[in-house]
Amino acid sequence: MIAFVWAEDSQRNIGYQGDLPWYLPNDMKRFKELTTNNTIVMGRRTYESFPNGPLPNRQNIVISRNKNYQVKSPAILINDKGALFEYVSKQANIMIIGGKTIFQLFKDDVDTLYVTKIHHEFSGDTKMIDLDYRKFKLTEKKEGTMDEKNPYPYTFETYHRLSNVEVN
Ligand SMILES: NC(=O)c1ccc[n+]([C@@H]2O[C@H](COP(=O)([O-])OP(=O)(O)OC[C@H]3O[C@@H](n4cnc5c(N)ncnc54)[C@H](OP(=O)(O)O)[C@@H]3O)[C@@H](O)[C@H]2O)c1
Repeated sequence: MIAFVWAEDSQRNIGYQGDLPWYLPNDMKRFKELTTNNTIVMGRRTYESFPNGPLPNRQNIVISRNKNYQVKSPAILINDKGALFEYVSKQANIMIIGGKTIFQLFKDDVDTLYVTKIHHEFSGDTKMIDLDYRKFKLTEKKEGTMDEKNPYPYTFETYHRLSNVEVN
């Protein structure tokens, strides 16, 4: 499986000044549930947004064109998409976690979309790429719980590529 995991606001913003535009702990919890024990693949800028380096209990793969870029162990650096399968089996659950440039790079490979739609507008400087939703089927939709720490309305949605959905 090659999945995209991301959160976007009502204007499809995903990033602002090198970080997430919002603080939404319930989305971080979902991200952790989806990615733990799997492989996460990210761009160099997204990697640099993590305050403590590689995320624990996941295989972290960072993409940069800079061959001398240093990632903290146990993260792995790759310089192009083709190198991914030197480190990851084709059977693995590969979670592409952004940012925009890495979603663009895997646009034709992705078969599963895990998106958190936050129904609120934030300041943003990085938007999600255009995806052709006609090629995907919505397979799960769940309203997020709001509370003091999660003050914005949001929905968790899962899509599967139509060619991968069995039609009976
Ligand atoms: N809302 C969300 O779910 C979400 C998810 C992820 C990220 N974000 C946000 O999005 C922003 C970062 O996204 P971004 O698009 O600016 O950066 P990014 O995709 O995280 O990283 C960009 C870098 O990846 C490397 N790269 C890109 N394409 C490559 C290729 N074809 N081959 C080799 N290396 C390649 C380059 O690194 P070098 O310059 O080192 O060569 C490039 O500068 C941040 O604000 C972050 O917080 C949001």
